[in-house]
Amino acid sequence: MRVALGVAGGIAAYKAAELLRRLQDRGLEVQVVMTEAAREFVTPLTFASLSGNKVITGMFAEGGGEPNLASAIEHIAVAQNIEALVIAPATANLLAKLAAGLADDFLTTLCLATKAPIILAPAMNVNMWEHPATRLNVETLRQRGVQILEPDEGYLACGMSGAGRLASVEAIAQAMFVALGLQDDLQGETVLVTAGRTEEPLDPCRFLSNRSSGKMGYALAEAARRRSARVILISGRASLEPPASVAIERVRSGEEMARAVEKHREEATVFLMAAAVADFRPAQVESAKLKRQAGAPVLKLEPTTDILGAVARRRKPGQLVVGFAAETENVLQNAAAKLRAKRLDLVVANDVTQEGAGFEVDTNIVTLLFPGGRRVALEKMSKREVAHRILDAVVELRSECAAEQARPAAWSSKQLRKIPGTRK
Ligand SMILES: Cc1cc2nc3c(=O)[nH]c(=O)nc-3n(C[C@H](O)[C@H](O)[C@H](O)COP(=O)(O)O)c2cc1C
Repeated sequence: MRVALGVAGGIAAYKAAELLRRLQDRGLEVQVVMTEAAREFVTPLTFASLSGNKVITGMFAEGGGEPNLASAIEHIAVAQNIEALVIAPATANLLAKLAAGLADDFLTTLCLATKAPIILAPAMNVNMWEHPATRLNVETLRQRGVQILEPDEGYLACGMSGAGRLASVEAIAQAMFVALGLQDDLQGETVLVTAGRTEEPLDPCRFLSNRSSGKMGYALAEAARRRSARVILISGRASLEPPASVAIERVRSGEEMARAVEKHREEATVFLMAAAVADFRPAQVESAKLKRQAGAPVLKLEPTTDILGAVARRRKPGQLVVGFAAETENVLQNAAAKLRAKRLDLVVANDVTQEGAGFEVDTNIVTLLFPGGRRVALEKMSKREVAHRILDAVVELRSECAAEQARPAAWSSKQLRKIPGTRK
């Protein structure tokens, strides 16, 4: 995953080297971009040596001369290829330029050109930080969706005390991890994800299947991995690159998927059952290709194993089961019925007939249905974002589940007798 680290011209510029290391420790590929002033405080060589990448310090070729087209293209590519941009330290000057929308050097141009989330960690003299101009600039940037990490209070390099110290490297790194969906909140969980479509054979050449692309399930697997879960991805047919560091098992039919899920059922702590498993399969699989000359066959279908139902029925305490309901009519009623009938912890419902939702597309429009009737309708967003919102709900369910387990088990009547006012 590629990110950019912007360094502006403040005393705290040297701390950016430590931040760079912290980001790299998490496996991020970091492109460092320095302002002209930053070079007065730390040399680009420091960042180039640590990052293993050339440091970008300006818009144009060093020392004038012919414009370097290759380098210009490379610069534009940075804006498009990064998943987040952090600037630490961000100077008062830089905040002012960004608030005004200026683009007079590479870093400010990058801020305007990128669609990636931007995090600024300002550091400056306390009077500069408290100046009405800086306050207004910070407010303007916040309103535009830029995340500002408030500086810490303390002794400042200028000899004064107050707010202005760069936030801790750990706090800045954590903000980046959250922006990238790299929280640790699923650490210790084994998340089993089913994804893609199953294929139910009819004869050696043909099968019954559906339009599921697997994108939602793969996004879930990737998001869970980023949040430090161990992930087992059981994938039906899908033409997608599996996410890194995920154990993948490929299956074809619903029966194969049922067997693969059963194999991992004991070790999984969270089940995200996003695969579009066929509900029915041909009752008879022909050993030879059905021929046109033999006339149109009448297909007899039989139900397949209900994988989700079986997992939910046989779950152990603490195992969370999330189901998906891809519907074309009475979406919420059908999803609520599925939640109740299978005693799931969460159902993710979507109307696959809606534009920008369901099969094949990169976005989804879903409603989360919880037991007890709570519903959370999410607006149209990328499947990656939907995946993170589902995992947020899983984390929430997990903490409720932990609180439930921490509560004393059913009070014995002997214990109750000891509490004044309780019935015997
Ligand atoms: C020794 C020294 C230390 C400075 N420290 C800071 C600082 O911590 N924060 C800040 O906002 N400006 C600081 N400045 C001022 C900036 O370097 C100056 O505003 C510069 O134009 C910033 O350029 P840039 O925003 O393009 O990096 C300092 C200047 C000097 C000479």
